[in-house]
Amino acid sequence: ATDDARGGKRESIRSLTMCGHVGFESLPDQLVNRSIQQGFCFNILCVGETGIGKSTLINTLFNTNFEEHECSHFCPDVKLKAQTYELQESNVRLKLTIVNTVGFGDQVNKEESYQPIVDYINAQFEAYLQEELKIKRSLFNYHDSCIHVCLYFITPTGHSLKTLDLLTMKNLDSKVNIIPVIAKADTISKSELQTFKVKLMSELVSNGVQIYQFPADDETIAKISATMNEHLPFAVVGSMDEVKVGNKMVKARQYPWGIVQGKRVVLLWADGFLSPSLPTCKAEYQWLFFRIAVGNRELEASPGSVTSSRYFTNVKSLHFTSLQETYEAKRHEFHGERQRKEEEMKQMFVQRVKEKEAILKEAERELQAKFEHLKRIHQEERIKLEEKRRVLEEEIIAFSKKKAASDILQNQSFLASGIG
Ligand code: GTP
Repeated sequence: ATDDARGGKRESIRSLTMCGHVGFESLPDQLVNRSIQQGFCFNILCVGETGIGKSTLINTLFNTNFEEHECSHFCPDVKLKAQTYELQESNVRLKLTIVNTVGFGDQVNKEESYQPIVDYINAQFEAYLQEELKIKRSLFNYHDSCIHVCLYFITPTGHSLKTLDLLTMKNLDSKVNIIPVIAKADTISKSELQTFKVKLMSELVSNGVQIYQFPADDETIAKISATMNEHLPFAVVGSMDEVKVGNKMVKARQYPWGIVQGKRVVLLWADGFLSPSLPTCKAEYQWLFFRIAVGNRELEASPGSVTSSRYFTNVKSLHFTSLQETYEAKRHEFHGERQRKEEEMKQMFVQRVKEKEAILKEAERELQAKFEHLKRIHQEERIKLEEKRRVLEEEIIAFSKKKAASDILQNQSFLASGIG
C-alpha cells in the first residue's frame, strides 16, 4: 500500500523544463528586451532661418522623406511646428518628434524671435510636470514631448554669428542641449570652413553660450566624445538626391564640378540628451545610436568633371540600432580582445621557445667546437707519438743490428783466442 502511495506521489510531481538561462548574466538581455519592447522616444528641435536646409537634413539623417512643405518668408512672427513620426528599423521602434521653426529670421524686428521657442520648450516641461504631479500618474505610457536636442542651423556666411543666433542660443542653452551645425557646408571652402568654425566657437565662448558637449566622463565613449567635441560646430550637407558613385547609389549633391558625399562616424549616445541640469523626462536610460557623418570628408569628382578643391563635412544619417546589437557588439569586442590576448600569449610562448632553442643551439655549437678542438689536439699528439715510436723502433733496429754485429765480432775474437 505504501509503494502505491509513493507511486501516486511520483506521478503528481511535475518536471519543469527551463525556459532560458538562469543567472544574473541574463540581466543585460532582459534590459535590452524591455527597451526594445517599449521603443524609444526622441524629440529634435530644429532652429534655423527659412530655407536653410532643416527638412533636407532631417530627411537625410533618417533616410526618409517626411514631406515637409516649404514655408513662406512672410510670416509676421515665429511659430513652431511639431510633427511626430513612428519609425522602425529592424525591430527597434522610434517615436520621433521633429519640431521646426517657421518664419525664423524673416521679421524686420527679430528681438523677440527666440521667445516662441523658449515658450514651446517651457510648455513641454510644464506638461511633463503636470503629469508627474497627478495622483495617478501614467508616466510609463506618457508621450514625452520634452526636447532632447536642438540642432541650431547657422548660415554659412564664413563671417560670424548673427545677433539673432547669439540671442536665441543664449536664451535656449539652459533649457536644451544645443548642437550648432553649419548648414549647406558645401557652399563654403575647406579653409573658409576651418576659420569659420574657429570664429564661431570663440564667439560662442566669449558670449557665454553653452553648447552641448559630448560626455567625456563616460569611459566607454570618452574617445569618440573627444573627437566629436573637436568637430563642433558640425558642418553639414543634406540631400535627398540619389547619385551614382562607382556602382553604388548614394545620397549626395551633384554639381558640375563633382559630387559631394559624406563619410559616416558611429556615435553612441547614452542618455546624452538629458542634461543633469534639466528636469529628467524619463527615469530610465535612453540609449541612442547615432550615425553622424563628420570628420574626414570626401569629394568625389564624377567622370569628366572638374575636380574642386572644396572639402566638406556631412551629417548624413541618424540611425537607430537596437540595444541587442549594442550588447552583441560589446560581447563580440570582448571575445575579440580575449582572442587577441590568447594569440599574443601564444606568440610570446613561441618566441620564448625559439629564444631557448637558439641558446641551446649556441651551447651545442660551442661544445661541438670544443670537441673538434680537443680532437685535433689529440690527433696531433697521436701523430707526434707515432713519429716518436717510429724513431724509437728505428733506433731499436739499428741497436739490434749493431748488437748482432758486435756479437759476431765478439764470437770471432773469442774463437781466435781459443785457437791461438
Ligand atoms: P523651411 O522648412 O521652408 O524653412 O526650409 P528648410 O529650412 O526646411 O529648408 P529645405 O530643407 O526645404 O531646403 C531649402 C533648399 O535648400 C532646398 O532647395 C534644398 O535642396 C537646399 N538645401 C538643403 N540642404 C542643402 C545643403 O546641404 N547644401 C545646399 N547647397 N543646398 C541645400
